Amino acid sequence: MKLDTRVLRHLTQEDWKVLAAVEQGTKNHENVPTVLIEKLSRLKGGASGVHKSISALAKASLVAKTLHAKYDGYRLTYGGLDYLALHQHAQRKQVYSVGSRIGVGKESDIMVVADDAGVQKVLKIHRLGRISFRTVKANRDYLKSGQAGSWMYLSQLAAMKEFAFMRALRDEGFLVPEPISQSRHTILMTLIDALPMRQISMVPDPASLYADLIAILLRLAQHGLIHGDFNEFNILIKEERTPAALSTSTSTPSASTSTATSTSTQTSSAQPATADQITLVPVIIDFPQMVSMDHVNAEMYFDRDVACIKRFFKRRFHFTATQPGPFFKDAKKTVGKDGARRLDATAEASGFTKKMAKDLERAIALEKKLAEEKAELKKESKYFGADSDEDFHDDDDDDDQEEDDSEDDDEAEEEEGGQAKQQLDDDDIPTFPRPEKEIPIEKLTISEAT
Ligand SMILES: Nc1ncnc2c1ncn2[C@@H]1O[C@H](COP(=O)(O)OP(=O)(O)OP(=O)(O)O)[C@@H](O)[C@H]1O
Ligand SMILES: [Mg+2]
Repeated sequence: MKLDTRVLRHLTQEDWKVLAAVEQGTKNHENVPTVLIEKLSRLKGGASGVHKSISALAKASLVAKTLHAKYDGYRLTYGGLDYLALHQHAQRKQVYSVGSRIGVGKESDIMVVADDAGVQKVLKIHRLGRISFRTVKANRDYLKSGQAGSWMYLSQLAAMKEFAFMRALRDEGFLVPEPISQSRHTILMTLIDALPMRQISMVPDPASLYADLIAILLRLAQHGLIHGDFNEFNILIKEERTPAALSTSTSTPSASTSTATSTSTQTSSAQPATADQITLVPVIIDFPQMVSMDHVNAEMYFDRDVACIKRFFKRRFHFTATQPGPFFKDAKKTVGKDGARRLDATAEASGFTKKMAKDLERAIALEKKLAEEKAELKKESKYFGADSDEDFHDDDDDDDQEEDDSEDDDEAEEEEGGQAKQQLDDDDIPTFPRPEKEIPIEKLTISEAT
């Protein structure tokens, strides 16, 4: 699902009101009756104005007519929800223009946006449920449960939970992007000028970086949390440069003490004494799947996070820690110790009910399962020589070196399951051409509150 903001500029105040009315009606109707849209949008011009707006919105694929429905009605599309969210960020004066998409994950689109001062930020648009859940056999009953399977509801839950955790973690001093604002299924956050660890080809001191990452896992555990997806895609490695004159001082940033050679910055590990000191600082992202240390499967999640890091360091940096562990049972003993504030009730504190938590957990597990099934299919079609690239094309085309990384790579991708990256089919979802360059969205600011 791509985001094209071109139509934004052509929407009138009335169009926005009608779009907001369709969203409002969606709370109780999958197919929002046209008469209800008329009522909710409260346009002065009456029905004819509403019809004009509906047809403009439908043309831009922001609403879609429900075919073969018992009554005349429309539903909100992903595009429509994206626009409403962008509109709200713009009204808060946080977004002025939208740039290109820098990432497409299993469960989100990541866009670079900017405010009117030109400050770049990241807009994460959650896309839970975008994979057609109908294709997952085990999911049929789940879908019957109505709202629990709705993409709009699930994506919003993911954004709410992620935003709450980012805020809580930042307050506790963890290095995560600063969450700026949340609207519907989107989160606005600071842009981290860093590469995902997956793109780092080598580090002179893997032991030090490894120790930093394990320390983060253990610190999370102390606060009652497990990341749940602690892998090379979700760890950004920031390079902090200390000028040569200062680097002789004993104070190095506490988060990390390792120096690096990345694919983008080719520096020698044997630096002359006069060279700037580069310190690697891991910044953690991606939190919708965070779980409590008290979760019934906590041990599995904790061990999986640890194993992910170990596996990556072995494959990429040929580094294996001499010490076994860390082990869940030891980490468990530290929960809440040394004055650590427990953060595992963060989602509940932000208004999450038990049902919401369960619905989200289930949806994330399903997405993972589906990604695994697709990865499996991809492997099979490769095996049989089919040209499958159209359907399952690798997301990281800039990361070709990963292919010949090591012979156990395939196995690792499989074990990681959800981490096998591929472009997913956008079943039933209207797509827009990708914006070529930044497109001003100033028109957003003239509309009514949604
Ligand atoms: N604040 C940020 N600053 C810089 N880059 C970011 C930021 N947030 C996300 N990214 C980039 O976008 C990618 C995907 O982000 P994120 O992991 O949050 O989404 P996701 O949908 O969960 O992805 P996946 O399902 O693949 O794990 C990251 O690997 C990173 O390259
Ligand atoms: Mg991720």
